[in-house]
Amino acid sequence: MAKIEFSKISKSYGTAQILKGIDLQISSGEFLVLVGPSGCGKSTLLRTLAGLEKLDSGEIKVDDRNIHNVEPQNRDIAMVFQNYALYPHMDVSENMSFAMKLQKRPAKEIKEHVTQIARLLQIEHLLNRKPKDLSGGQCQRVALGRALARKTSIVLFDEPLSNLDAHLRSQMRVEIKRLHQSLKSTMIYVTHDQMEATTMGDRIAVLKDGAIEQVGTPTEIYHRPKNLFIASFIGSPEMNLIEGALLAKLPWPETQDETRRSNQILGVRPEAFKISQGPILPHELELGAFHIELSENLGGQQMLHGLLEGQNVRILVDSMDSFCKDQKLSLKIDLTKAHLFDKQTGLNQRLS
Ligand SMILES: Nc1ncnc2c1ncn2[C@@H]1O[C@H](COP(=O)(O)OP(=O)(O)OP(=O)(O)O)[C@@H](O)[C@H]1O
Ligand SMILES: [Mg+2]
Repeated sequence: MAKIEFSKISKSYGTAQILKGIDLQISSGEFLVLVGPSGCGKSTLLRTLAGLEKLDSGEIKVDDRNIHNVEPQNRDIAMVFQNYALYPHMDVSENMSFAMKLQKRPAKEIKEHVTQIARLLQIEHLLNRKPKDLSGGQCQRVALGRALARKTSIVLFDEPLSNLDAHLRSQMRVEIKRLHQSLKSTMIYVTHDQMEATTMGDRIAVLKDGAIEQVGTPTEIYHRPKNLFIASFIGSPEMNLIEGALLAKLPWPETQDETRRSNQILGVRPEAFKISQGPILPHELELGAFHIELSENLGGQQMLHGLLEGQNVRILVDSMDSFCKDQKLSLKIDLTKAHLFDKQTGLNQRLS
């Protein structure tokens, strides 16, 4: 376990500033998920911690010690690379034990670690194969195994499950969480996958253009997004963003003035809409007719696409109820789950 502190981290390639003064503290033993659009600097940030990139300015401390002058191999950090980079001339078992052999750990201990991790990752039967004889998904699991078998105090994962099918992915998600609980290493995990971010992270840090937009628990990030970018980036299916006449119905001080209203966007997640039945509760608001255009069956739920006051809206409802095209439903929203964003600044105005 190790506590990590990034302070004012900046990094440029040529004239392009990739990391713009990043401040981030990660507690000892925490599982932090880093998410953000392609090219925002996630891999670069991991690489600075691993010692594979030099910082232009700022400092990184591990357990209150500046690691600036510590060589990568002495940082007690394992990393699962985005392109997995296995040693091609070594078989799976050698790939997994290489770093431990360098550290001159006892052969018995190495064998035990490799066997235990290989079993968890379901690659025991591949231990004698070379990487060229493995599928992409198998290579990815070997890369995970190679990093985890070392039992370092910090493990960095750069999109480690991107080549796996959906079933294996959800299995590996649980295995990595389980390993985290038993190894107790501090872990930083980069992903594009909403599900991975919210199910695995103790906290999530959302990165955009080399700067951190918000750090919080999955619940905070999902229910209390600081701005429009976070609100639309986190959550699948995406939040509905509504402008226009509908905003006049909202009972909030921010929406009373017409000029102010024209500069606002209402954000409502698809599950925060309800079909109006029975009494309207104090925290609910009746919205009017929703005109169904299309329904998508998602298994346990269905997504209805349609028009509400001339705006395209998606709502999530139970899949056992049957709806048809052109049907009209009366909708209400749960106001405690509705957000109001400023069009210019993007800031969420309903966060107290
Ligand atoms: N060695 C390099 N030289 C020049 N530019 C680089 C170099 N490495 C990365 N970059 C640029 O820095 C930016 C951030 O790259 P980085 O790999 O950190 O993004 P990322 O968030 O990991 O993206 P992805 O989700 O696609 O993996 C990108 O615009 C990339 O092109
Ligand atoms: Mg990357």
